[in-house]
This record gives sequence, structure tokens and C-alpha cells, in this order.
Amino acid sequence: MSHAPASLVRADADHVVGDVDPRIFSGFLEHLGRAVYGGVYEPGHPLSDARGFRRDVLEALRAVNMPLVRYPGGNFVSAYDWRDGIGPRERRPVRRDYAWQSLETNQFGTDEFMAWCAEAATAPLLAVNLGTARAKEAGELLEYVNLPTGSHWSDLRAAHGRAQPYGVKHWCLGNEMDGPWQAGHCSAAEYAQRAREAALLMKGLDRSVEFAVCGSALRVMPTYLAWDRTVLEACWDEVSLISAHHYAHKKDPATRWGGPATQRAKDSAWFLAEGVEIDRVIEDYAGLIAYVRGLKRSEKRVHVSFDEWNVWHRRASEHGGWTAAPALCEETYTLEDALVVLQYLNSFVRHADTVKVACLAQIVNVIAPLTVGPRGVLRQTTYYPWQRVSRLAAGRSLRPVVHAPDYDAGERGHVPVLDAAVTHEARAGEAAVILLNRAPDAPETVRVELSGLRVTGVRSVEEMGGGGAAALALANTWDTPDAVTPRAGRAELGADGRVSVRVPAPGFTLLRLAVEGSAA
Ligand code: AHR
Repeated sequence: MSHAPASLVRADADHVVGDVDPRIFSGFLEHLGRAVYGGVYEPGHPLSDARGFRRDVLEALRAVNMPLVRYPGGNFVSAYDWRDGIGPRERRPVRRDYAWQSLETNQFGTDEFMAWCAEAATAPLLAVNLGTARAKEAGELLEYVNLPTGSHWSDLRAAHGRAQPYGVKHWCLGNEMDGPWQAGHCSAAEYAQRAREAALLMKGLDRSVEFAVCGSALRVMPTYLAWDRTVLEACWDEVSLISAHHYAHKKDPATRWGGPATQRAKDSAWFLAEGVEIDRVIEDYAGLIAYVRGLKRSEKRVHVSFDEWNVWHRRASEHGGWTAAPALCEETYTLEDALVVLQYLNSFVRHADTVKVACLAQIVNVIAPLTVGPRGVLRQTTYYPWQRVSRLAAGRSLRPVVHAPDYDAGERGHVPVLDAAVTHEARAGEAAVILLNRAPDAPETVRVELSGLRVTGVRSVEEMGGGGAAALALANTWDTPDAVTPRAGRAELGADGRVSVRVPAPGFTLLRLAVEGSAA
């Protein structure tokens, strides 16, 4: 242990933010690049099962507690005709995909996705096309997947081998319709009308479904929050969630979206304070939702579906060259990126009262924690925080009070070196403490105090990172697949019930504590 004065993370069992919704550990799979073809689905490959699903990918994803997977897009969904992807494969058309300028063979469609979800121990979060299609097509898809046989689309499902309805509960009403790049992009008022019509029709067919309406695509959009307010006001009664999207990167935004560079790329000190930006986005939405709720004098609660989030350094406008399954948007993630991923997760947990769904975008090959190769699947650095925290953070989120030194994060101001989240699962008699150290060279010794709870033991300690500033660039590659992985850490439980734990620099530590007492 270091002899430097310890930082302090304190939480109180009665200072509850809200219940952690396990759906914040969901994923996103789009028909983009090698996400589907050559990702989750590779018929004939020795590592695939009889249906063509890669078994190694399934195994890596089953290890994540991933309640939902959003599908089939993304930008792809806004010009997608779901009817192309059903029925006998030899009759399915090859189409040009407007979003990624690729060829879509339609060999993997709705039924394949449903079967894949069952294998992956997850559930579908289906997005409907509100770009080139409208309520009618969305209603037909709902009939196909959810209604008992006895009508055209549900009978067709049965004819395709599935008599039982799939019972899809979670739906997204389109994707990023505020973005000029989106097929069918329109004004907020026009989108709100399309979304409301679709929601009413779908709910009329199946009362059990719930909807996320499209919020803004990015915080830098000129219509940010104005779009969201219009949409939420119009659709308040029909929806339970509004979507937020955010991609972290070190590039100047102009370069990132394909324009000329006007500013220099940001440094690590700035990037490692990304949690500040994530908190801001969520708090923007919390404020907006409270505002619309007030306007409506409503008793209802609407939450955030953070249904696209990740680190994404490459240009967002990659071109598929009109080929099938081109390698698009493939990233090699570093330790630094993994530290940003952990900050998203901490922020979702800290805002458990606001964020009820969040989808890592994406899960395989495309801006993903898993890269698929001919001999297996590579777990990138970003896989580990997502996989570990999804299995650790549960129950109630407790508001953490952090006393730690600040550092200079450039335009982000002075930011504490520590980022923390705390949860308490009374039934399991367990508390989780997630600690991240942004300082590249100074490991932090942290004292953890949980009032209202008696810590009776340390169940597990894991840490990842360390090695100083140079380690920020470390990545897992096919040659060094385990360069950055979690390892056992060390924590001491004092007679006073406080826990002392070391957080590597730069890195994170995950504590699982046995606790007694306080609210059930
Ligand atoms: O996840 C990649 C893309 O990012 C999605 O298609 C789109 O919704 C977002 O802009």
C-alpha cells in the first residue's frame, strides 16, 4: 500500500439514487460491416453451430449479463424492409444498403435474430424503420413477431417454422431521425407524428409492448434538446423511454464527422475525464424529462434509453464500396479506451433513477469489444469493464461522495482523479464499489466507508491497468490477446469496518463486499 494520504469514497445505505436496472448492460447489433456476417453469423465455419451462429462469440457474450440486444440498426434500420429478411433464404433479395453503402444479402433476418437471442441468453430490442417506412410496416412487423396465428403476418411466421409468438416487449421507434445522414430524416414535429402513429398502432395490436422514442443523435447537434422536447411533448403518453446516444473520441468533432480539421486532437488528460461529459448528457435528459413532466402535470415517469454508447475514434462515415460485409468501423481498443468505457458504466449506475436501458454500440467487430477471426474471438480491452461490471453492480445505486485530489483535464477543468460508483444488493448481502483512477502515474489508496452497513468481508477484488502513462496505449491483439486483462487485487478490511484498497495508475479496481444491515 502507498503511504500517501488515502482518498475517501463514502456512501450511505439510505442515500439511494434508485434501482440499478440490469438493462443498462445491454448491447447493440447492426447490419453494418462484419457485425452480423462474419461476426455473430458465419455458416459453414468450424466454430459455428448448425444454424451458422459462431459458438465462440455466443460464449463470450453469454459471460456478459446482457439483458437486451438492440437490432437491426442504427442507421441501417431507416431504409430496411424487414420483409426482405424472412422466409426461404434462396428467395431473399440482395439489396443496396443506403446507410453503409454495402450489399445486404438478407440471409440473416428477424427469425435468425430471435433464434440467436435465445442462444445468447438475451432478449430482443427491436428498432422499426421510421425513415422510409411508417406505422403500417411497423405494425406488420409487430404482428409477425408477437401475435398468435390467425392473421396474415402471424400465419406467415408459423409457415416459416415458428408457431409461437416471440413476445418482443422492447421497441425503438426509429433511429437518430434528427441526423441529416439518416434515411428519411425530417423535422422533430414530423418525426413525432410518425413515432406517435407507430406507437398507437403497435400498442393497439399488443398492449404489452413499450417504446423508446428517438432523442438527439449527438450533443453537438444544432437541435439538441429542442428536438427532444418537441418529440417528448408529442409522444409523452405513448412512450416510456427517450433515447440518448454518445460516442467518445479524442478527435476534433469536425474531423470526426468528415469535415476539415479545425482544432487539434485532445490529449489523454482531457479524454480520461470523459465521465464529466457522460454525466452532463444524462443530466440534460433528466432536466428535460422533468420539464416535460411538469408541463404535462403528469404522474408518469419517463426514463433514458442510452441505446448507443462507446468509444469510436475512426471516421463515422466509412463507405462499404458496395460489397457484402466489408470490414467497417473496426477499432483496436486500448487500456485508455477501456477506462472511458468504465466511466460510462459508472455514470449509468450513478444515474440509476434516470437511465434504465443502455446498449454498448456495438458488440461484435464494429466498434466492438469482440473481434472475430478465423481461429476464434479476441476480447478487446473494453470487453472487460463491461463484462465485469455487468456481473457486479446490482440492487440499489448509492450516491458516492468522493474525496480525492483534482487534476487538470484541460477544457474540462479540474476533475477528481477518482471516478466511483457504489451499489447495494440487500438480498445477496453484498455491496459493490467500482473505482477508477485517472492519474496515469500515481496509484491511489482509497478508503471506502459504507455507513448504515456493516462490512463483514471482502468477497473479491479485481483490478485492471497500472504501468503508468505508457500503458494507456496497450491493446489486446491477435499476437498479444491477454496484454490487458483483469487480475486479482488487494483490499484490507479494518476493525472499524472500513476497507482500504489500491487502484492502479491508470486503471480501475472492482470490490465485492459482504455486508449486513440496513434497508431491505
Ligand atoms: O453504431 C454505429 C452508428 O452510429 C449507428 O448506425 C448510428 O445510429 C450511429 O450514428
